[in-house]
Amino acid sequence: MESKKNINLKLKVWRQKNAQATGEFKTYDAKDVSPDASFLEMLDAVNESLITKGEQPIVFDHDCREGICGSCGFMIDGNAHGPQKGTTVCQLHMRHFKDGQELVLEPWRAAAFPIKKDLMTDRSAFDRIISSGGYISVNAGGAQDANAIPIPKPDADEAMASATCIGCGACVASCKNASAALFTSAKITHMAMLPQGRVEADKRALNMVAQMDKEGFGACTTTGVCSASCPKEISLINIAKMNREYLRASVMKKDEISGGDSA
Ligand code: SF4
Ligand code: FES
Repeated sequence: MESKKNINLKLKVWRQKNAQATGEFKTYDAKDVSPDASFLEMLDAVNESLITKGEQPIVFDHDCREGICGSCGFMIDGNAHGPQKGTTVCQLHMRHFKDGQELVLEPWRAAAFPIKKDLMTDRSAFDRIISSGGYISVNAGGAQDANAIPIPKPDADEAMASATCIGCGACVASCKNASAALFTSAKITHMAMLPQGRVEADKRALNMVAQMDKEGFGACTTTGVCSASCPKEISLINIAKMNREYLRASVMKKDEISGGDSA
């Protein structure tokens, strides 16, 4: 439902001082909100009024506000990043809401993402998954001419599509198992599809999956809500590819240990 007039909203916002504290919902009015404002701009205005009254502003993560950095993200009425498909909360506009609507704002809920404050969670578990193998450490030399390393167009397109993951964590927050399979698989596929990344593909798959499990994320049961709620619409196929990479790497490793007897 689109509105041209300014609107008034009621926000039920999760307030929590830190990971140890008990949280609670508190209700706030968002008054005279322009339909052209972004959701975060609306929250900025609410925070201004809270600060004016001497109250603590609502803490939420953000940086680029252009849908590219992956810093923002919380639940709006149970939807990660809100109701608009393929959209980060920083790119969500108030014209998608109705006058008088009540919205429930909650942080990502996952044991591996402890709450830092209010709507902000600690997503450093994702950084540790990346550190465990989400990079290319072979010396690929200087920048190549475009045609020096021929890469089939479908492979390049798939690598690019996977590379658009911004690491926001909406997939984890939406998943009933709090699985990080979509995020991890996007990183694994992105690099496995390119010749420079293939060199370490086996080690990468084993290490990143092991780190994902160590961080306490749940197992994937291929429900698909991760992909449906992903602001970058990362495909579920990545998870199948990750499983294949992982299985292949596990067999290769077994072969190395047994001297090739398992083949
Ligand atoms: S897969 Fe999608 S939802 Fe998950 S971290 Fe990447 S961009 Fe965010
Ligand atoms: S603030 Fe960067 S993606 Fe939303």
